[in-house]
Amino acid sequence: MEKIEKAIGVFDSGLGGISVLKELRKHMPNEKYLYFGDSAFAPYGEKDKEVITKRCIYICDELVKKGVKAIVIACNTATSACVQVIRERYKDIPIIGMEPALKPAVDGKKNQHVIVMATKFTLKEKKFEDLMLKYNADHIIYKLPCPKLVEIIEQDNLLNEQLVETTLKDYLHTYDLATIDSIVLGCTHFVFFKEKLQKIVGNHIRLIDGNEGTTRHVVELLEEKKQLQLEKGYGEVTILNSSKDEKYLKLSKELLEY
Ligand code: DGL
Repeated sequence: MEKIEKAIGVFDSGLGGISVLKELRKHMPNEKYLYFGDSAFAPYGEKDKEVITKRCIYICDELVKKGVKAIVIACNTATSACVQVIRERYKDIPIIGMEPALKPAVDGKKNQHVIVMATKFTLKEKKFEDLMLKYNADHIIYKLPCPKLVEIIEQDNLLNEQLVETTLKDYLHTYDLATIDSIVLGCTHFVFFKEKLQKIVGNHIRLIDGNEGTTRHVVELLEEKKQLQLEKGYGEVTILNSSKDEKYLKLSKELLEY
């Protein structure tokens, strides 16, 4: 098979990366996608680096065996745990990682008050510390770990309005929202809550996620390598999940249409 015809591999600790896959498909409708959700091992945000790295190596080996032309780590947590290890292991395959979109939240602005919602792991890692160091002299940045939001997605509770609303309000109740300029959704699971969250916090707060920026990056990379599929007739998605429970495949497909 010609390289250009190969699928783009996308993976996450579970179903959060489906929010990235949606964006990728929107901008590259002719590509084939191979998505791997690691729901049997989610959440990554509560695990340690060694465990996460081992899982990511296993998943990437699987994707590479099946033949992919690029790998998108659709998970901020996995990226901060081991993007370097993954890049060194697969030198011939472009690896695209994600990080909380703090830069677009503050770029070109003064004295911003920003809440970064992410996993406990992402927020305590050096990668995020370094990112914060670039901006926290000029802006106020609050770190907010939200493990329950990952759980809600993995347990198929996104449509449980009451639970979603109480959980979001609970996480945000200590902040004076009138003073907040933006909230960064630094975990791909959280993007599914965007609409609901916007209603709760009000329109004066910008909600920012990294899905569009990541997609742009993938498009540019494939264009540069002349591997962007422009012909019609592709666009198919294959979904794999580490859990034997069939419900995750069903839920993945539902989230892709959400
Ligand atoms: N979706 C993942 C992220 O973007 C992490 C969720 C988890 O497994 O804790 O960070």
